[in-house]
Amino acid sequence: MTMDYKAFVEDQIASIRSAVGGHLAINALSGGVDSSVVTVLAHRSLGKQIKTVFIENGLMRKDEPERIVKLFAGIGIPVQLVDSRADFLNALKGLTDPEEKRNAITKTFYEKVFGRLVREIGAKFLFHGTILTDIEETVAGIKRQHNILAQVGIDPEKEYGYQVLEPLKTLRKDGVREVARVLSLPAEIAQRIPFPGPALATRIVGEVTEERLATVREATAIVEEELQESGAFQYMAVLLNDRATGIINGKRDFGQIIVVRCIHSVDARTATAVELSWKKLQRVCERVTAIQGVNRCLYDLTPKPPATIEYI
Ligand code: XMP
Repeated sequence: MTMDYKAFVEDQIASIRSAVGGHLAINALSGGVDSSVVTVLAHRSLGKQIKTVFIENGLMRKDEPERIVKLFAGIGIPVQLVDSRADFLNALKGLTDPEEKRNAITKTFYEKVFGRLVREIGAKFLFHGTILTDIEETVAGIKRQHNILAQVGIDPEKEYGYQVLEPLKTLRKDGVREVARVLSLPAEIAQRIPFPGPALATRIVGEVTEERLATVREATAIVEEELQESGAFQYMAVLLNDRATGIINGKRDFGQIIVVRCIHSVDARTATAVELSWKKLQRVCERVTAIQGVNRCLYDLTPKPPATIEYI
């Protein structure tokens, strides 16, 4: 049976209104498809009772915060930019274990930054862009998605002082894109490749530092520009926690390694590497190895499973 997404949107609007009542709600927009759809859904349902913030956590892609705020202003949704870079970078300092990094991001996000914002605004509800795949993978122990709370035993009301609403939790990525279409989101957002909540931290193996973020941010901009016409489900650059010898300006160099990943998928549960042309791969390699400190660029052929899509 095919799903009626128009009816889904109407049902969600009705249940959001009844859940929130006369209270205030808040949500964080990251610019990814899920949080963008939740933002539009919540604004359609609640009007002035919902406040949307963009948390600048220092882990975002190049020019992203300003771009997203401007884009939403263009569709009549005001978004407040909250500079929390220092909070996140301090919390991530010295951490190399993937789960510890994810935990630090979750804690900083929901406890520190949101705890403070919710109190300031007097909000009682927080909207999340959690989707079914996030819940399933967390419950299966594959990874702890940053936005999963109840399923890992966290009671947000008790621990952080607000209730969480997750209008997309029965949908997968393809369903979220259908909802985006029903809500008439600009194609620029509806067709955007997925981007994870913990942002570039999922693309840095090892410690997340400002310098390493700058490297992966630059590589991400190149990969996104070069592969935007690929039609792939998702593409990204990843910075490894290893080094390799190379030659820079005629001298031996012990430099950084960037992995490029470009995959086909329908719902992110399984994925296969896209067969990019040799010419395209060479072009990406040339541009990525022009980034200061990077002397190797690799293309990842691994499907999911056994790999996951992200690297942490
Ligand atoms: P993995 O790496 O688990 O990724 O194969 C599956 C899909 O989910 C995205 N992803 C996340 N999205 N919060 C999110 O909002 C997260 O913590 C997270 N981790 C992975 C990933 O980009 C891919 O599309």
